[in-house]
Amino acid sequence: MKNILIQLDTDPLPSTFDRVVAVDAGADEIFSYGGITPENVEGLVHGGMFTRGPADLMHTAIFIGGSNVPAGEAVFERVKKTLFPPFSVSVMMDSNGSNTTAAATVLCAMKHLNLAETSALVLAGTGPVGFRVAQLLLGQGARVSLASRSLQRSQEACQRLSESFPGAMLTPCESTTAAGMQSATAGVQLVVAAGAAGVSLITAEQLKAIPTLRVAIDLNAVNPAGIEGVTVMDKAKDRNGIITYGAIGVGGTKMKIHHAAVRSLFESNDRRYDTKAIFELGQQLPGRAPAN
Ligand SMILES: NC(=O)c1ccc[n+]([C@@H]2O[C@H](COP(=O)([O-])OP(=O)(O)OC[C@H]3O[C@@H](n4cnc5c(N)ncnc54)[C@H](OP(=O)(O)O)[C@@H]3O)[C@@H](O)[C@H]2O)c1
Repeated sequence: MKNILIQLDTDPLPSTFDRVVAVDAGADEIFSYGGITPENVEGLVHGGMFTRGPADLMHTAIFIGGSNVPAGEAVFERVKKTLFPPFSVSVMMDSNGSNTTAAATVLCAMKHLNLAETSALVLAGTGPVGFRVAQLLLGQGARVSLASRSLQRSQEACQRLSESFPGAMLTPCESTTAAGMQSATAGVQLVVAAGAAGVSLITAEQLKAIPTLRVAIDLNAVNPAGIEGVTVMDKAKDRNGIITYGAIGVGGTKMKIHHAAVRSLFESNDRRYDTKAIFELGQQLPGRAPAN
């Protein structure tokens, strides 16, 4: 029986990137729909649920994407509510690559650090990717400082995170002043820059002034770099004793996770690939065993 991936995209035009990955991951047919909202998705989900018998539904799956991550989250919630056993199909949500990128980032860090003993700073942790990086780091027992240009936005993001991680060592901070950066960077072993494309968040001088720093990961692929001195191609590059990763350096792992997740959707009809589940899948990839 053919494996059918139903691509539900919140943008008007469904992403060609997600479609190419689906083909490479082995989907036989991809049905792509754009302009998806919680209000119009139900009929499309029903079409996927009620066409094949329960035993064959593992060969139908749903991928939710699009550039607007909150819109994708809302569609994901509606899709999950619409599905019920035994007519369920597996679902993956990766709007704007947010889940696969965050998972790959934390897996790269885990190659070098025992996260349960790590203090991490996530710069621009208010965005979809940075927020998920912070979430996954907390899940591994790391202490996390979450920075934003606005202390209030940082506090709001930390409040949301603390609902899932009560008692976590989580500190909101602002990153626009020298004093704010000094306090945010104090004692950290890991810095992740998750700012918008082309936004510089930390200078080489500020990085050099963190004596405890061991790993620096920049997710911005557009010049200027998010972390001055880190290039997009860096992949476990040793720069004066600091291990660095750039966006493309992380991107290889991200692509492996994306492929593996799409393949895995067709192994059963009950997968729900959210941030945590995608990270856990990434942990199982060959050669991905953490160093700790
Ligand atoms: N390597 C990959 O495969 C891959 C995949 C997906 C995404 N990415 C990259 O990952 C990064 C994060 O993605 P995202 O979707 O979370 O980003 P985003 O939503 O565009 O921006 C993240 C945060 O950046 C901060 N920001 C925005 N404009 C800024 C400015 N002018 N100056 C300083 N800070 C600014 C904002 O935080 P505050 O307003 O709170 O300061 C915002 O919440 C992006 O660079 C994206 O291109 C890489």
